[in-house]
Amino acid sequence: MHELLNDAAARAIRYLDGLDARRVAPTPEAIATLKELDSPLPEAPTDPAAVLALLDDCGSPATVATAGPRFFGYVIGGSLPVSVAANWLAAAWDQPAFAYAISPVAATLEEIALRWLLDLFGLSSTCGGAFVTGATMANFCGLAAARHRLLNNAGWDVEADGLFGAPPIKVIVGAEAHASLFKALGMVGFGRQRVVTVPVDRQGRIRPDGLLAISGPAIVCLQAGNVNSGAFDPADEIIPRAHEAGAWLHVDGAFGLWANASPVHAHLLRGYADADSWATDAHKWLNVPYDSGLAFVRDPEALCAAMATSAAYLPPPSERRDPAQFTPESSRRGRGIEVWAALRSLGRAGLADLIERTCRHAQRFAEGLRAAGYQVLNEIVINQILVSFGDEARTRRMIAAIQREGTCWCGPTVWQGQSAMRISISSWATTGADVERSLAAMIRIAREQG
Ligand SMILES: Cc1ncc(COP(=O)(O)O)c(C=O)c1O
Repeated sequence: MHELLNDAAARAIRYLDGLDARRVAPTPEAIATLKELDSPLPEAPTDPAAVLALLDDCGSPATVATAGPRFFGYVIGGSLPVSVAANWLAAAWDQPAFAYAISPVAATLEEIALRWLLDLFGLSSTCGGAFVTGATMANFCGLAAARHRLLNNAGWDVEADGLFGAPPIKVIVGAEAHASLFKALGMVGFGRQRVVTVPVDRQGRIRPDGLLAISGPAIVCLQAGNVNSGAFDPADEIIPRAHEAGAWLHVDGAFGLWANASPVHAHLLRGYADADSWATDAHKWLNVPYDSGLAFVRDPEALCAAMATSAAYLPPPSERRDPAQFTPESSRRGRGIEVWAALRSLGRAGLADLIERTCRHAQRFAEGLRAAGYQVLNEIVINQILVSFGDEARTRRMIAAIQREGTCWCGPTVWQGQSAMRISISSWATTGADVERSLAAMIRIAREQG
């Protein structure tokens, strides 16, 4: 065992050390080698050391270097070394984090991390919280809690009786709501399409004048951090109006919520603390390993009513917080362990620096691309940049060439009808030198492509 685990650590460290020098996208040859992982199901055991060697030799080169400093696709953080280390230790602990009785350490670390997170996000310390796989499931948790509370207020027990014949709930979303919100709406039984859509402005923010009068049970979904532009819906204008009408306010803040940890950017979240539920990710801007999302709900009973479970063989309800009473899953890994480690190591100042540093890198990208004559399509409010290299065909060609060249990796999008390249700076590992090197590569490739 010692040899195997030491070998795994050595290989993982070698992989991380090599990220700076390698192409961000894997080579076609590396991808072709993946076929060596395939075989008929072995009849006989294989030496674990040989299994690990095969995994590393074929698997590592076929990764996209998302853990490295120059991956700017989607919204993907790297993993802080302390969170990787905590993850390794937690894997060795192998704790099913469903109840305090079965893992006092995982349950306690969730409790502590939750308290710190509510503080960082400026939310009430009495909120309930759930550690889930990602913002999609965090949106699901917030919407399930909303469904419970609104229908319970209308005299309907949705957990017992389902949605057949239940009083209808109106769901209001911005025209720029993230795809995962619609997925969560579908999973919770509201339907992906049965929504009222409010128009947005040029940055993708809900236009408050487009929000018509709200009546009856309703959920209004706001977004803190548009996946393309980074923009924030104007919560301070919308939430008081919606609350007056008795609506539940849900916030998808997959990465934007973290801006509250920086004194420079916290103003973007003005009014958001008055919402009823919030979804975010720790695997994005906090830079902990996948998968790690978080839901917070002002009314913990509503979250518990939607998620709680019991059985004769399970531990009885305890004084302490039992994680599974707040989450869709029962058996699950202790995601709070890495979140705790990251926050314990960064502290308030380190987290603020991570947010501000990545936002400064975004400003520099925008400035460099504009200076080179390319059009930046969004206001750089946080860490997202949208750049057009001309018409759709040219922009697409440029993105493919940038990915192929390998210095960095950026993905495509369409922003309000215009084809664009997205740059998202979410990793702790990105330095000013990485930004300059990536900018130089982008501009050189764009000029070569003509
Ligand atoms: C605004 C927003 N919401 C939700 C999600 C979905 O997050 P996850 O993939 O962690 O479920 C994303 C992912 O980028 C996002 O940007």
